[in-house]
Amino acid sequence: MAIRNLRYEGDEILNKKSREVEVIDDKLQTLIDDMIETMHKYNGVGLAAVQVGILKRVITIDLYDDKGPIVMINPIIIKEKGEQEVDEGCLSFPNKFAKVVRPAEVVAEYTNREGKKIKVKAKELLAQAICHEVDHLNGETFVEKIIPGTLEYIEPEE
Ligand code: NI
Repeated sequence: MAIRNLRYEGDEILNKKSREVEVIDDKLQTLIDDMIETMHKYNGVGLAAVQVGILKRVITIDLYDDKGPIVMINPIIIKEKGEQEVDEGCLSFPNKFAKVVRPAEVVAEYTNREGKKIKVKAKELLAQAICHEVDHLNGETFVEKIIPGTLEYIEPEE
């Protein structure tokens, strides 16, 4: 396992659309392991492969609860319900935080790293994280969705 270099604001790869994963091979498993390690190193709740420079539809999420890291390959949101106004940040925008509106609940389908198709109903933080990461796979970042007047710059701790 290895920590991968993060891609940051201004890197045009963040606005590119990621491609579907067709085979779950050793190379993909290594990418997934590295994404989880990288996400944990920076205390992220989620990471999309594009953020480590790989245009594949893979995301990792960890709410730091008893479920452990969740890996979603080719995730799609098939249902959205309601709205929630939430505070959001992103590992690719390390000092920007803002409010955005996300669906309150989503139903998503994805393939897990064992190749099994999964359907999940998510709300609150998990719904937010899935939406944020799926946006990354479509070349969109949270800064494009900021509620006007809510952007805050927070300098990283020394
Ligand atoms: Ni992000």
